[in-house]
Amino acid sequence: MNQYPPVTVEVEIERLLPGGVGLAHAEGLTLFVSLVAPGDIVRVQIDRLKGKVAFASVLEVIKPSPVRVEPPCPYFGRCGGCDFQQLNYEAQLQAKVEIIRDCLHRIANIADLPEIAIRPSPKQWQYRTRANWQFDQQTRHLGYFEAGSHRVCDVEVCAVLAPNLQSALEDLRAQIRNDSIPIAAKNVEVVAGDEGVSMAPSWAGFETKSVSRRIGDETYHFGADAFFQVNHELLVPLIQEATRNARGAFAMDLYCGVGLFTVPLARCFQRIVGVESNPTSARFAQLNLQNAQLESARIITARVAEWLNGQSLEFEAVDFLLLDPPRAGAENSVIKGILARCPGQISYVSCDPATLARDLKKLLAAGYFLDSVAAFDMFPQTHHVETVVRLAT
Ligand SMILES: C[S@@+](CC[C@H](N)C(=O)[O-])C[C@H]1O[C@@H](n2cnc3c(N)ncnc32)[C@H](O)[C@@H]1O
Repeated sequence: MNQYPPVTVEVEIERLLPGGVGLAHAEGLTLFVSLVAPGDIVRVQIDRLKGKVAFASVLEVIKPSPVRVEPPCPYFGRCGGCDFQQLNYEAQLQAKVEIIRDCLHRIANIADLPEIAIRPSPKQWQYRTRANWQFDQQTRHLGYFEAGSHRVCDVEVCAVLAPNLQSALEDLRAQIRNDSIPIAAKNVEVVAGDEGVSMAPSWAGFETKSVSRRIGDETYHFGADAFFQVNHELLVPLIQEATRNARGAFAMDLYCGVGLFTVPLARCFQRIVGVESNPTSARFAQLNLQNAQLESARIITARVAEWLNGQSLEFEAVDFLLLDPPRAGAENSVIKGILARCPGQISYVSCDPATLARDLKKLLAAGYFLDSVAAFDMFPQTHHVETVVRLAT
C-alpha cells in the first residue's frame, strides 16, 4: 500500500501564485511548489503539511515548461534572493500581472479588472542599486540569507547587483579574507549613487555618506540609512504614472521617503505636505525640496497614522493624495484618516499586491472607483512587483 500523505509526488504546475510559488493538485492535496514554471511536470518532495495543503520543493524536472530556462546564478535555490530565475523574462512579466490580478480579484473583490500593463525593466540583471548584506561572524560568510533560514549564503557574485555594489562586495570579501576587517556588523545596508557607495553602519572603509542621483529633471540626495528605490532605471515612468494629471491647490505625500514623489508633486500644487517617520529620510526630503527651491512644500517627521489622526479635519480640502507604504501596507487607522479627508484623487504605490488589495477593498467600499492599474518590473528575477493604482471619486 502506498504511503498517505505521500512523501514525493509527480505534479503539473498550473500557475504561479502571490508569493511566487507554483500551484498544483495531486492525491487530494493542494501543493505550493517553490522555484517552478507554469506547465512544468515535476517530481516534488513534500517538506511540510498543513491539513490538505502541502509545501513542496522540486526533486526532478520531468518535463520542463516551454518558459523554463536554466537559472544562470550558481546560488539559485540556496540563496533566498531570486526566486524567478527559472522563468524566461516574458514569463516573469506575465506571472507578475497574474499575481496582481489574482490579489485584486480575490482579496479586493474587484470583478471587472482593467487591462494591467507591465513596464519591463531596461536591465534584467545588474539593476539593484540597494542591498542588505548579512555577515555571519562565526563562519565569516557574507551574502544573503538562504531561503527560509537565517544561514548566510556566502555570495561572491550577485548577478542582480549594480556593478559598483558588486565591486564593494568584492572589496569587503577581500578584507574578510585578509582578516583586516574591523569589528563586524551583522548586516549592512548599501546603496549606490553618483558619488559611489554609501553603507550603514559605516564598515571597513565604507562610510554612511550622502550620495545623489538624477532622476528625470530632479536630483535626489539619499544615503544607506534612508530608503531609496532599488531600480533607478524605472523611476521616471513610475513617477509619471503615480503623479499623472496631478494638479490643484493641496496635496499629501504619505510615506514620502527622501521625496521621490514630493519634489515633482510640489511643482504641480500650491501646497504639499510629505509625511515620513525616518528622521534621516525626512531630512533628505527637506534638502531635496530646498535644492529644487520648492518652498511651498513641508515635510513632517512623524508616523502617518499619528499625524493623520492628530490633525483637525478643518484642514483644507485635499485635491490629491499619494501613499507609498512599506510592504505591510497602510494601517487601518491610516485608511480611516485618508477617508475622513475625502481626497479628490488617490494614487497608491505599492510593492506588495496582497496588502495593496486589502487596503483597496476599504477605499473602494467607501465610494472611490478604480481608474487604472499599472505595474512596473522593479525587481527582475524575483516575484516582487511594484504597482500603481489610481482612484478617483
Ligand atoms: C516604500 S518606502 C517609499 C518611500 C518613497 N515614497 C520613495 O518612493 O522613495 C516607504 C517609506 O515609508 C517610511 N515609513 C515606514 N513606516 C512609516 C510610518 N508608519 N509612517 C511614516 N513613514 C513610514 C519608510 O521609512 C520609507 O521611507
